[in-house]
Amino acid sequence: MAFRLRDFRPEDLERVIYINRTCLPENYSSYFFMSVHKNFPDLFLVAEEDGEIVGYIMCRVERGFLHRWSGKAPKGHVISIAVLPEHRRKGIATALLKEALARMSERYGAGECYLEVRVSNTPAISLYRKLGFEETKVVPHYYLDGEDAYIMTKVLERDNP
Ligand code: ACO
Ligand code: ZN
Repeated sequence: MAFRLRDFRPEDLERVIYINRTCLPENYSSYFFMSVHKNFPDLFLVAEEDGEIVGYIMCRVERGFLHRWSGKAPKGHVISIAVLPEHRRKGIATALLKEALARMSERYGAGECYLEVRVSNTPAISLYRKLGFEETKVVPHYYLDGEDAYIMTKVLERDNP
């Protein structure tokens, strides 16, 4: 069955929290999910199959403290992405990420996008590399359990994100 992407809506909150808790040890409060939705309504997307949400991506755009003066392009940040286990390897995460990257670039003028990922998370690292992200830094003990993170970064080309 084909999937489709749409913007997150407040009534999706419980289901998205369920998917986040099922798939990742990094969990967030309802307040946090809703604040991302409120601030970046078009950068928080869900994937639906048969009318049921099976994955999500939540992103924001960060402008930096002195953005008005520095003239630097804002940066996209993928906060969290997950797809339920039974629905993986069908291109859902790829579609979510591509759509979010295009929107960051076109709608927010983001010049690059970055994210943190566990150094052991081979599936996610493979996905990000396939979409043009590269490991640019290691952050030791980034996660609560002590695991290191890679920062992975991708330059966003205006016409070819
Ligand atoms: N092993 C190796 N490569 C993989 C794997 C895997 N298990 N899963 C995906 N990939 C790579 C492959 O290159 C794949 O292309 P292919 O299927 O043609 O070989 C490519 O990624 C695209 O895969 P998708 O089907 O688009 O990805 P999927 O919908 O399965 O979701 C995801 C990938 C989100 C990483 C999923 O496995 C998941 O939810 N994992 C648990 C949560 C998680 O780790 N999220 C990322 C945390 S970091 C962050 O959120 C910023
Ligand atoms: Zn992050």
